[in-house]
Amino acid sequence: MAFTIAVDGPAASGKGTISKALARQLGYAHLDTGLLYRAVGRQVLDGADPLAAAQALTAEALDDPSLRTPEVAQAASKVAVLGDVRAALVDFQRAFARRDGGAVLDGRDIGTVICPEAEAKLYVIASAEVRAERRFKELTGKGIETTLETVLADVRARDERDMGRAEAPLKPAEDAVHIDTTAMDIEAAIAAALGAVRARQ
Ligand code: C5P
Repeated sequence: MAFTIAVDGPAASGKGTISKALARQLGYAHLDTGLLYRAVGRQVLDGADPLAAAQALTAEALDDPSLRTPEVAQAASKVAVLGDVRAALVDFQRAFARRDGGAVLDGRDIGTVICPEAEAKLYVIASAEVRAERRFKELTGKGIETTLETVLADVRARDERDMGRAEAPLKPAEDAVHIDTTAMDIEAAIAAALGAVRARQ
């Protein structure tokens, strides 16, 4: 049976890699909902109005490597506190979740706000230090110059903003399965996620 899988968690917890792997293994479609906020944040950095940018967003705008920079990540978490921006992005995410053939959505509020009826919900966490190390490797691997201290400070600033906001804060759904990837390699994390999903099928 094809269903909706909601994967939430903080930056660099492993939720994106896990979500992609789940989608591939199960033959489901995958939506990284962080890209929606990054696309809006990116346009705001260029001087756009956040709500207008969210309302005009198209699926094509999500396919853009320049959305992956730390600067855009911070801009994304700033526009993500705005209730009207979040509201403007709901329909796109819910339509994706309801598509035939099953869908995996990853983000911060998928299990709590976007798809509270999702058949399987995962909450993926890891220590801030381990997440910063992963993100540092990823960024330097792409040729982006930074330091581990800067990345850790960015991760903590985003955690605080994402967990502390009034609208759709990052938190586990009551019925989410928690996966702590701090001491796991990616294969183990994927296996744990698949096991949790299969238990719901
Ligand atoms: O997941 P990613 O790091 O790409 O997300 C960028 C930012 O977008 C997050 O820090 C968060 O503020 C916001 N976001 C959100 N809700 C989602 C996905 C992302 O608020 N469902």
